[in-house]
Amino acid sequence: MSNKQAGGLPQTSKLAVVIMAAGKGTRLKSRKPKVLHRVGGQPLLQHVIASASRVVDPAHIFVVIGHEAEKVRTEVAHAGTQFVEQKEQRGTGHAIQCTLSAIRGYENVLVLSGDVPLIRTDTIEQLWRFHQKEAAAMTILTAAPEDPHGYGRIVRLSPASPAVDAIVEQVELRPDQESLREINTGIYAFKIAALDAHLGELKNDNPHAELYLTDMAGILRSAGERVVAVQAEHAAEVLGANTIAELVALDATMRLSTAHRLMASGVTIYRPETCVIDPQVQIAADVIIEPFVQLLGKTRIGADSTIRSYSVVENCTLGQRVTIRQSCVLAESSVADGADIGPFARLRPGCEIGNDVHIGNFVEVKKSKLRAGVKAGHLAYLGDSEIGEKTNIGAGVITCNYDGVKKHATRIGKGAFIGSDSTLVAPVAIDDGAYIGAGSCITKDVPAGSLAVGRARQITKEGWADARRARQKAQD
Ligand code: UD1
Ligand code: CA
Repeated sequence: MSNKQAGGLPQTSKLAVVIMAAGKGTRLKSRKPKVLHRVGGQPLLQHVIASASRVVDPAHIFVVIGHEAEKVRTEVAHAGTQFVEQKEQRGTGHAIQCTLSAIRGYENVLVLSGDVPLIRTDTIEQLWRFHQKEAAAMTILTAAPEDPHGYGRIVRLSPASPAVDAIVEQVELRPDQESLREINTGIYAFKIAALDAHLGELKNDNPHAELYLTDMAGILRSAGERVVAVQAEHAAEVLGANTIAELVALDATMRLSTAHRLMASGVTIYRPETCVIDPQVQIAADVIIEPFVQLLGKTRIGADSTIRSYSVVENCTLGQRVTIRQSCVLAESSVADGADIGPFARLRPGCEIGNDVHIGNFVEVKKSKLRAGVKAGHLAYLGDSEIGEKTNIGAGVITCNYDGVKKHATRIGKGAFIGSDSTLVAPVAIDDGAYIGAGSCITKDVPAGSLAVGRARQITKEGWADARRARQKAQD
């Protein structure tokens, strides 16, 4: 197996990546494993795997799993990485001990944290280049954030030198070390031979009684090995996600950067900080997105379309000049050019909405094809149906598609007129140009060009109401 040549990186033999993802994430106070919490629409771990996969082929990535191992494995298995199990979580040093036998065949290893999701490929490569240039046994990626509290701190031999003396965890800082601003990002490069020779020397003589990978800095240095640090340019990229508040902050950062990328390509997003847009969403130039819109999954939107406030669109393809008015919910459907939907409309999965279709308020459509120019302006349910060009669906029309056991189809031809408040009991077909009288319950097929009325006849009793009132008055 040879490692993938990544953008500009010299071809190097035998580089493995380990991603530590076995921890429980106690500080989240959540039953779900930390690395499966989502930011920017994806599990934390998925982001790290994606960045690492651009440095080496996923076959050379080893994900350390432990807490809820099977859940984690299942959720990210599609990425094609290897997995190593850490049955008991006895610390980051122990996590690496558990991977040693799997990575011994490699010369170097990059160690990443499953809970540092914003790490970019460029930064991983920067670490890797520095490690090789310095011919180090251990290279630590560091950062200098505004607030270093909670992180391990870097003690350099001298401020200007890349050489590191030790990493000191927050809880073990001496008072004179509290002011150290350079933090350990939890991301490292190691020469595997050096790791292999000294990893057994880790001790759990610390407040958590864990084996800290950070102690390798001091251990390797005492053994005469070269330990260096390189600082990441952007501290925001290497911040961890240890609490729900930190996760939500990372999510906001990612969402905003997606919004800015789209705006740079010609999309107008008003109040971008209120919009939730997944990274894979594609939007053409001149689309307008109003505040509080969610665009999820693999949604695509064509030019000159408008998505008005409070709408949620998931895995849909919208054409050009489409208008989605306020508070619509659309899922797994397609909408062709010029269609106008909402406010308060719902497209459930499997809808194909044709050109210039109008769907108005309180209309629910499921698994239905509405051909060009269909109008369903108000209060309707159209399920398992096919509706021909330019047919008009009156207010309150319902396709009765379910008989309590099975779903049945309704077919309506083109140019038909379905009067308000009609119920179409499927399976039923209404042919081209037919009229259905308002308030009908249609149970039989209606041929082309005909009128069907299925309702009780009206009876009018003249004077009846006046007579009743007169009787009432006489009794009082
Ligand atoms: C770690 C570093 C700290 C650094 C910080 C950066 C240690 C001792 N400390 O602290 O210096 O500033 O990261 O974010 O390493 N994990 C396992 N198995 C375990 C324990 C942890 O796989 O037994 C995994 C976790 O799932 C997590 C990663 O290792 O993805 C880091 O563990 P975490 O407990 O979050 O370490 P920090 O306290 O953040
Ligand atoms: Ca962490």
